[in-house]
Amino acid sequence: MKLSTNMKKALNDQVTLEASASNSYLAMASWCQVTGYRGAANYFYVQSDEERTHMLKIVHYLNSLGTIATIPATRAPISSYKSLEVLIQTALKSEQAVTKAIHNMVEIAQKEKDHSTYVFLEWFVNEQVQEETKFETILQKFDLLGRDKLGINEIDKFLAAEATAPADAAA
Ligand SMILES: [Fe+2]
Ligand SMILES: [Fe+2]
Repeated sequence: MKLSTNMKKALNDQVTLEASASNSYLAMASWCQVTGYRGAANYFYVQSDEERTHMLKIVHYLNSLGTIATIPATRAPISSYKSLEVLIQTALKSEQAVTKAIHNMVEIAQKEKDHSTYVFLEWFVNEQVQEETKFETILQKFDLLGRDKLGINEIDKFLAAEATAPADAAA
């Protein structure tokens, strides 16, 4: 099966997006660790690994169809944040951008009647629903538990538990 030029470009662009997300979450993990948010740090180390597996899925898909995946140089991620809440907001925004890109690829697949890629992308469509919900749930915690030191400490504990939750391991 041959991928169209358009679809090849979209998939390669997605490799870049997933690689950037992986790097960005690694930078977030580093900031969290050094700031003293251990739970959040673990959470983002896991997230970073997940994004790398997303990138690999697409790399393997492209290569399996005879198109050498383009391994991209990525822009340096933001390395410092004003607060944990701003960091989570940034993560949610980046997931929303990824969702848009995935939906855009689905539309290309539909237009081109590329059923293989359409089915391949289904996993990513579902994954993005989970990803956005994850970060929306964390953001809710700031309203529910508060933004003072005790509240943030509770959020950090919540993230520690989420980082080791079996559901995350499968994502
Ligand atoms: Fe991803
Ligand atoms: Fe993600």
